[in-house]
Amino acid sequence: MANERGNFGTKIGIILATAGSAVGLGNVWRFPFMTGQNGGAAFIILYIGCILLLGIPGMVSEFVIGRHAQSNAYRAYGKISGKKAWRLVGILGILTSTVILGFYAVVAGWCLQYLFASVGGQLRGDANYVTQYFQTFSTDALKPCLWGIAFVLITHLVVARGVQRGIERASKVLMPLLLVLLVVIVVASCLLPGAVDGIRFLLLPDFSKVTHSVLLEALGQAFFSLSLGTACLCTYASYFSRDTNLLRSAMQIALLDTIIAILAGLMIFPAAFSVGVNPDSGPSLIFITLPNVFQQAFSGMPVVGYVIGILFYALLVFAALTSTISMHEIGTAFFHEELKIERRSAAWILTVVCSIICVCCSLSVGAVSDLRVLGYSLMDFCDLLTAQVMLPLGALLTSLMLGWFVSRQTLYDELTNNGTVSRRFFRLWFFCVRFAVPLFILLIFLHQFGVI
Ligand code: PHE
Repeated sequence: MANERGNFGTKIGIILATAGSAVGLGNVWRFPFMTGQNGGAAFIILYIGCILLLGIPGMVSEFVIGRHAQSNAYRAYGKISGKKAWRLVGILGILTSTVILGFYAVVAGWCLQYLFASVGGQLRGDANYVTQYFQTFSTDALKPCLWGIAFVLITHLVVARGVQRGIERASKVLMPLLLVLLVVIVVASCLLPGAVDGIRFLLLPDFSKVTHSVLLEALGQAFFSLSLGTACLCTYASYFSRDTNLLRSAMQIALLDTIIAILAGLMIFPAAFSVGVNPDSGPSLIFITLPNVFQQAFSGMPVVGYVIGILFYALLVFAALTSTISMHEIGTAFFHEELKIERRSAAWILTVVCSIICVCCSLSVGAVSDLRVLGYSLMDFCDLLTAQVMLPLGALLTSLMLGWFVSRQTLYDELTNNGTVSRRFFRLWFFCVRFAVPLFILLIFLHQFGVI
């Protein structure tokens, strides 16, 4: 069954694939710009709090549901609770990841374009030129749409042909390489003149900048980055083996994910302050800061800067791909198993829907800027709707279901692999799932809507 469902290779492969889902543009693109818009260090502290208190227990919850049921998210929610109504939470997750894939592909497409532009040496020029380059490109009507669709199609090819095994194998090499490259760029960025202000911005918290919505932003970012609340972790966990230590895997993935996000922050902010890019410039932040780093930090050795630039965008594209594969896989597994259609046709349904969302989001960035919903561009709206409403809602409902509607013994057996691992932590996790997670998410929601 597992093979037919996903062609995931080895045990280590599936854990790697789960880490690959978590690590992506959420860490390298979204985390820095969220941090920049929400006051730097103070945001990071809230973010880490959310990871520890809500993120890790939430990940374990999805792992428990998925591995217990060994099926797609929709079925899994019904199976563990014994009630069909809970399957709707699985559907919510599938919907969420489809919308995310739509706008995520826009940014992944930008990365592809930047990969080719850096190979062709088009990103060379002063800070103004680099800013202008991004603006001209991202507001073009055609190019970014095509790159976005290209990204969805690449994802489609991997998912429909079931070549995840190759991707897993590649990620064993490429993920550590990304980590090493990040460290190199962090060092280069911190050595730029005036970088110290950026380091200060990242490390010294200024709580006066924390407005009432920052907590929800931190929560949304934590969930987005861990791929939590989309049923993605649940789907991947359905391929885990019976002796996978769920708690340990969740902690390892969360740790890796957080380290990469913080490294990305350390890579962007010192450089942004050094070249005078505003830290709250939003989604364009990494695209207008990094080309400057590759030129200025390596001005004595331009070839090194050139190669590092290319490597960086190539690895970013790869990291984004391992995430988009996971978003695509959730819906594909669902359509394939529930509608009983061929895996390839199931994948096409998702590809077409996501491409349409991707094109609309891409156009809303500039070319058709009146494509707005509730005052936001469609792109921002999809981001807000998923990160700040759908993901927390998915995690809230998942926690309520596990905490109150599933037998404690079932949860104990699943989490501890029938009493063999993590026994000491079961009560703590169960407490979080039953009380802490739902309560915190509810409080944050109420706070956001001005009720408290
Ligand atoms: N976690 C991924 C990232 O950080 C994004 C993602 C969200 C992937 C939801 C799957 C589901 O880039």
